[in-house]
Amino acid sequence: MRALLVDSSAKSGFRLGETAEPAPAPNQALVEIKALSLNYGEVAGGYGKEDGAVNGWDAAGVVVKAAADGSGPEPGSRVVTFGSGGAWAELRAVDTTELAVLPDGVDFAQAAALPVAAVTALRALRRFGSVLGRRVLVTGAAGGVGRFAVQLAALSGAHVIASVGSVARGEGLEKLGAAEVIVGVEGLTGPLHGVLDNVGGPNQVTAFGLLAEGGSIQSIGATSGEPSVYPPYATVGPQRRVEGFMMGYNLGEDLAYVASLVAAGKLDVEIGYRGSWENSEDAIAALIGRKVVGKAVLDVA
Ligand SMILES: NC(=O)c1ccc[n+]([C@@H]2O[C@H](COP(=O)([O-])OP(=O)(O)OC[C@H]3O[C@@H](n4cnc5c(N)ncnc54)[C@H](OP(=O)(O)O)[C@@H]3O)[C@@H](O)[C@H]2O)c1
Repeated sequence: MRALLVDSSAKSGFRLGETAEPAPAPNQALVEIKALSLNYGEVAGGYGKEDGAVNGWDAAGVVVKAAADGSGPEPGSRVVTFGSGGAWAELRAVDTTELAVLPDGVDFAQAAALPVAAVTALRALRRFGSVLGRRVLVTGAAGGVGRFAVQLAALSGAHVIASVGSVARGEGLEKLGAAEVIVGVEGLTGPLHGVLDNVGGPNQVTAFGLLAEGGSIQSIGATSGEPSVYPPYATVGPQRRVEGFMMGYNLGEDLAYVASLVAAGKLDVEIGYRGSWENSEDAIAALIGRKVVGKAVLDVA
């Protein structure tokens, strides 16, 4: 089968090539992949496996072989899938706990955009408890996680402040539910009940200083590449937290939920880059270059 293989000599770190088909374990369905999405974490380095390995967390397609243990959907089912690798291929073996059947009206490209970005936004937001009527800041709001986070926080009744890198990158966020769109931390005021932080660095330190008592920062990512340096006594005072966040596994139920929101027209999947997986190098450059509004999705054909 064809797959996007790790290739340390390639400019993007990947090349389209031939590899062996996966052999599903008893708890895995075999899925013919139709579309995949790219995540910052898997293309910006750090998660590369050995040359020749098949990377990729997010993909959507059609079940061609049901799991041997009887779990999961029947052949022919349209599904969205997650795993710690193996997504960027014509065939993927996927744990039946890491997939969901797609409702009508959600296409493969929309579905492929969901797993890591939307479920991260969902699970991180849940850490705040109720955000009804409370102020929530989302940093890196123009990105994959960010655009889902803005929408899910707004759906939950929060007053959402979306922080972006430039005015242009903020376009469309008010339509998605942001009450305020700011560049960096310009004009940012407290109190903040929660911060979904994709960017880290000095902006995180500023946001921490504006947290209400009991509020927290969910440290999701650190795309700024800058350290968050807390001056003496900045962390002394009323109880406030910076918490490490990791999305984790067992996505099935949450994937079904976010897909149902898409089907109901309550969650917009913003696909800022769409192309063939033959052009993965171009897509990866656009994502790392902060040129993609939302998600980068590649069609597998
Ligand atoms: N902990 C977890 O479980 C988990 C799960 C998913 C993702 N993540 C992490 O979360 C982060 C966001 O992921 P993503 O998929 O949303 O990435 P993405 O789509 O590439 O978006 C990243 C955002 O970060 C901003 N950014 C990039 N470089 C920046 C810089 N030098 N300074 C300030 N802002 C910068 C960009 O802002 P502008 O567009 O405004 O320029 C962009 O919108 C990544 O670090 C990723 O690894 C973690």
